[in-house]
Amino acid sequence: METVLDQKLVSSWFDVHQSVPETYVFPPEKRPGKLNVPLCKSIPVVDLASYDHRDTIQQIFKASQDYGFFQVINHGVPQKVIDETMRVFKEFHAMPSKDKAREGSKDPSRNCKLYTSSENYANEEVHFWRDALTHPCHTSEKYLQYWPNKPSQYREVVKGYLEEVKNLGCVILELLAEGLGLSSEFFNGRLSDNPMLLSNHYPPCPDPSLTLGLTKHRDPSLITILLQDIEGLQVFKDGNWIGVEPFSTAFVVNVGYVLQIISNSKFKGAEHRVVTNSRAARTTIAYLIYPSNESLIEPAKALCNRNPPLYRSLNFKEFLKIFKSKAANAEAVLQNISLSGS
Ligand code: OGA
Ligand code: NI
Repeated sequence: METVLDQKLVSSWFDVHQSVPETYVFPPEKRPGKLNVPLCKSIPVVDLASYDHRDTIQQIFKASQDYGFFQVINHGVPQKVIDETMRVFKEFHAMPSKDKAREGSKDPSRNCKLYTSSENYANEEVHFWRDALTHPCHTSEKYLQYWPNKPSQYREVVKGYLEEVKNLGCVILELLAEGLGLSSEFFNGRLSDNPMLLSNHYPPCPDPSLTLGLTKHRDPSLITILLQDIEGLQVFKDGNWIGVEPFSTAFVVNVGYVLQIISNSKFKGAEHRVVTNSRAARTTIAYLIYPSNESLIEPAKALCNRNPPLYRSLNFKEFLKIFKSKAANAEAVLQNISLSGS
């Protein structure tokens, strides 16, 4: 018999076990290894209120080249909005599982949904130690009617948050475009008008050395703007894992596949993962900037004068199909869209 969602959620059973259930134990070669990786002091923290516009562009450009990751402070999103939104998501994930399952299962087309591990739960070999709530960011009634309305302030608070983060996203995309030598409006419109919200929740785990919150992956987004409460996010850089330091006043920004393609590989979609811990639940709020489905994804013409295009043109829907079929294998995704044949 199929187990219902509320019983599958990690948050519904994590505290009744002394040890990690077998279906959550990764084979030795895929385990996280050394858990206490250094928090990285070299991932740039960029001050968006700096008066030196060229310097800001340069910092973001370099970080996107070197790490595919940076953090932003003085970003203009009021701290009250950030704190309230984190509180509402923590409240959401702390609700009884039955309530969560109900609030996250209203949309028959499943754009808005609560799920656990990955969207591929039924077919995956090992499950991830996480629950996730996702929905489109558009606030038209068409989508809004499926958002949770418990906790009671959910819609109001999340709507306010998304307005702020949308503006921040525009600012960051303009800085990235300028750094690439493109017009500052390059990413406006269809390349960025399908943002999704994703709140991840990683309950405490009795043995973090056996499990992962998320395995090594790249995001299928243009960029992702993330709020994290405590540490757990790691970046793969030059063969090593490094931790992304949590700051309650900062957003973490990372480059996704789509920006790697459009930038003709000037920027690299950063590989990252999430480890668990035994002390405290971890909650994150990701704002994933996606193109609209029919939008054409290809290396920007202006970046293909001196260097030939490395990737073929395809629409975003087609890209997502490839991404989903090869999700476990980053190289296979790139090979599928690469023009070099190597
Ligand atoms: C993701 C992701 C990081 C985190 O949702 O794609 O990488 O810390 N999340 O939750
Ligand atoms: Ni990610």
